[in-house]
Amino acid sequence: MKKLRAIVTGINAWVPEYRLTNNELSRMVDTSDEWIMQRVGIKERRILKGEGLGSSDLGEPAVRGLLEKTKTSPGDIDLLICATITPDMAFPATANIISEKVGIKNAFSFDLAAACSGFLFALQTGAAYVESGRFKKVIVVGADKMSSITDYTDRTTCPLFGDAAGAVLLEPTEEEYGLMDYIFHVDGSGEKFLYLKAGGSAKPASHETVDAREHFIYQEGQSVFKFAVVNMADVAAEIMERNNLKSEDIAWLVPHQANLRIIDATGRRMGLPPEKVMINIENYGNTTAATIPLCLWEYESKLKKGDKLILAAFGGGFTWGSIYLKWAYDPT
Ligand code: UT7
Repeated sequence: MKKLRAIVTGINAWVPEYRLTNNELSRMVDTSDEWIMQRVGIKERRILKGEGLGSSDLGEPAVRGLLEKTKTSPGDIDLLICATITPDMAFPATANIISEKVGIKNAFSFDLAAACSGFLFALQTGAAYVESGRFKKVIVVGADKMSSITDYTDRTTCPLFGDAAGAVLLEPTEEEYGLMDYIFHVDGSGEKFLYLKAGGSAKPASHETVDAREHFIYQEGQSVFKFAVVNMADVAAEIMERNNLKSEDIAWLVPHQANLRIIDATGRRMGLPPEKVMINIENYGNTTAATIPLCLWEYESKLKKGDKLILAAFGGGFTWGSIYLKWAYDPT
């Protein structure tokens, strides 16, 4: 029997309506449109407003739309994986909540937490289930309500993040399309540079942790930047070399959207012209597990069957990696 591969057969994303602009942010903290555009490249980010709404409320419309778009019955889904670091609650898994909301009844589901590399790790995990031959339809959704852990009194982090979800459907093929290769890394010593100090089992919520604002993202930006800019570029170049891909063979780089300078450095390292790099950070900021599917969704009409894509990410943990994906369908 020929080797089964997992192909992406559909993509969808969803963002909330509310746009938090740099101008509004500059009325909340001591910052400016000029600083944010020069240092990061973000103009606005979407924020999910409303009491009691969580990442599942981002993931639900993304997955519901994906099912409609691909004419897939929820009952046919075998597995749903949700990449998130902002689950609705510690348990049950946000994946289960999304499944319930969209009527997925014959699947099992779980969350995967790998911060900004979450979508890549989840995509490969979903692909492995498909490649096993036992799972025919797998949904991988990246959903993060980053506004729920962003400190809007901290100018060093609050301009960076936004809320969004993006989802793909994976199905098997015996043809040479789909997930061709991946390289993943973690370095746990990176924990101290980017983390949520409290609210986990090591430091549960208390009056003190709330007063100390420890339920918000803590980031030493410069240190993370130095690791990100080298490692994301290296791992993207490494997967090209391992698969004998020259820059002219690559149709698109699909990079995690944390900072335009990191994206530019990765594109340059791969020898790609700017028009081969998917970029939408200006409109959405860093949506963590959602950046890569959000990019694929926005650029879907430009993707052609056989296009060779390199997906690359770097994030908290540290976690980083790249995926070589051969796109499996033409625009409709
Ligand atoms: O996706 C997860 C992984 N995360 C990342 O990849 C993020 C990596 N890091 C970064 O993207 C960048 O480090 C940041 C965008 C977070 C910061 O940019 P930077 O060029 O590293 O700035 P910096 O932290 O070195 O700060 C430079 C200056 C400082 O002032 P002084 O000390 O030079 O007077 C900051 O206080 O900019 C100041 N600053 C700001 N000024 C205006 C910091 N934040 C702001 C702000 N507005 N929002």
